[in-house]
Amino acid sequence: MENTAPRKKIIFSGIQPTGTFTLGNYLGAVKNWVSMQEEYHCCYSVVDMHAITVRQDPKALRENAISAYALLLACGLDPEKSVLFLQSHVPAHAQLAWVLNCYTQFGELSRMTQFKDKSQRHPDNVNAGLFTYPTLMAADILLYQADLVPVGIDQKQHLELTRDIAQRFNGIHGQTFTLPEPYIPKTSAKIMSLQDPTKKMSKSDENPKGFISILDSPESILKKFRSAVTDSEAEVVYREGKDGINNLISIYSAVTGKSYEEIEKEFAGKGYGDFKTAVGEAVAEALRPIRERHAQFMKDRAYLESCWKQGAEKASGIAARTLAKVYKKIGFPAL
Ligand code: TYM
Repeated sequence: MENTAPRKKIIFSGIQPTGTFTLGNYLGAVKNWVSMQEEYHCCYSVVDMHAITVRQDPKALRENAISAYALLLACGLDPEKSVLFLQSHVPAHAQLAWVLNCYTQFGELSRMTQFKDKSQRHPDNVNAGLFTYPTLMAADILLYQADLVPVGIDQKQHLELTRDIAQRFNGIHGQTFTLPEPYIPKTSAKIMSLQDPTKKMSKSDENPKGFISILDSPESILKKFRSAVTDSEAEVVYREGKDGINNLISIYSAVTGKSYEEIEKEFAGKGYGDFKTAVGEAVAEALRPIRERHAQFMKDRAYLESCWKQGAEKASGIAARTLAKVYKKIGFPAL
């Protein structure tokens, strides 16, 4: 009998192993990755090749990559359900990235805000990899023929460029790549710094009080939330201009599942102090099991290695099919 069931959609996303994840990475991306693995075919990667666009200490990079992989497992990603791998284990990413470089315009890459930001932050190392970073990201996504890419809002521009590159390639060579759609959460797509709520929460923040690392101790999490910058009013309501409170409301909503209205009701008549403590406690509680599982996984290196080996094998199989199709279309003779 003909199989008329719609095919399961394919998901791809990645995270850089530079330091540990922040609460922003978790709420903006990884938490959604976990819920998507029941419904879709998911591929998730620790993108260590992207990380070297900024100078890395080799020992720290290796440790961070391993720790990031363990964190994905600790957050609830299941290597039996999803393909979980390290980008540097699958050479097709670099191979397709080179091809896509030849289908991407200098002007397009020059317009990327992340390139502009990072080249300003590291003026002594504006390397070619930093510039062509988005074509490697496009290769990551297009190799797996992904339909959906769950990311925070800061990656939207890269996703749009990925679609443009894919469309251009398809236009020249015929249907080759699926056009991916960004999947951006409604309420936690941009978690802001706790010290400057007009800026994105980022692990590269010089002030460690600005970001929550998902491995921070409960005491440190509570302390950081208690010293979060807010405004001089005293009303816990989500309103334009109240950047600090808005950020705390969206964090509290994401970790408790409560709506903004419920939160406003819960804290009506209470001060910011009570609210900050409640948010800190809720976040510390939500992250506690992740921290504990991460410590367990880090003790079992053999298990981690077996998972990423299996992930690399599965990913390589999928990626090789797309790469072979691309090589054929552009005219490389078969081996
Ligand atoms: P990266 O490693 O900076 O961040 C990983 C994911 O976390 C999201 N994110 C946030 N979401 C909400 N609030 C924040 N403050 C916050 N900070 C980070 C990011 O949007 C991202 O989804 N270029 C990518 C990695 C990458 C990738 C890919 C992603 C490489 N190849 C292919 C998707 C598909 C990056 O640097 O993410």
